[in-house]
Amino acid sequence: MADLLKLGVLISGSGSNLQSIIDQIERGALNAKIAMVVSNHPEAYGLTRAQKHGIPQTVLNHRDFENREAFDRELLRVLQTAGVELVVLAGFMRILTPFFLRAFPDRIINIHPALLPSFPGTHVQQKALDYGVRFSGCTVHFVDEGVDTGPIIIQAVVPVLDGDTAETLAARILKEEHKIYPQAIRYFAEGRIVKNGRRVEIKGIGNHDAALCNPPLDR
Ligand code: GRF
Repeated sequence: MADLLKLGVLISGSGSNLQSIIDQIERGALNAKIAMVVSNHPEAYGLTRAQKHGIPQTVLNHRDFENREAFDRELLRVLQTAGVELVVLAGFMRILTPFFLRAFPDRIINIHPALLPSFPGTHVQQKALDYGVRFSGCTVHFVDEGVDTGPIIIQAVVPVLDGDTAETLAARILKEEHKIYPQAIRYFAEGRIVKNGRRVEIKGIGNHDAALCNPPLDR
């Protein structure tokens, strides 16, 4: 068997996306290995998840570092020492410096709980509700120097329902995050991602063109 793709998963909090990746690996549905989990918060619950599965972990408390680049230099050292090949940002609430990005060209991916390019940044479920969109969702994308601006790999769409709060919408989106993030990593591990500028092609995908309507059309 070919060598397993070595992942470095970066977290700041609950780590439910980390858990979905762990579960897919343990189920044999994702040929990858988590070589290192890094959290910038010592109390992140994701660290407990990693520990339960015997996955190496490192805490780099950003408060201990003089500036962003000093933090990123240590982060790079930790990931390179672990042999990481793909950096997976999973609820990691830090902006990475160009210095770090250059060390992993086209090898850093992020998940965002909105349909980019709508609603980049934070508190995006509330922003989607306030705007009144009928659909939201989540996006896995390559990381570039902007905030949530890199080329898009996969998106999932969910409806916004009457009576939704930021919490109910976030929960509906998170459920889909747990499906599309392992899928994106699988594409990567299988060498099926081809990036042409902003457009990302996934080799061996049958296109489907069904439209979604919310509310649904009258029959
Ligand atoms: C997810 O919604 C992710 O898209 C966002 O932060 C949340 C993190 O969830 N950036 P978790 O830590 O993976 O549970």
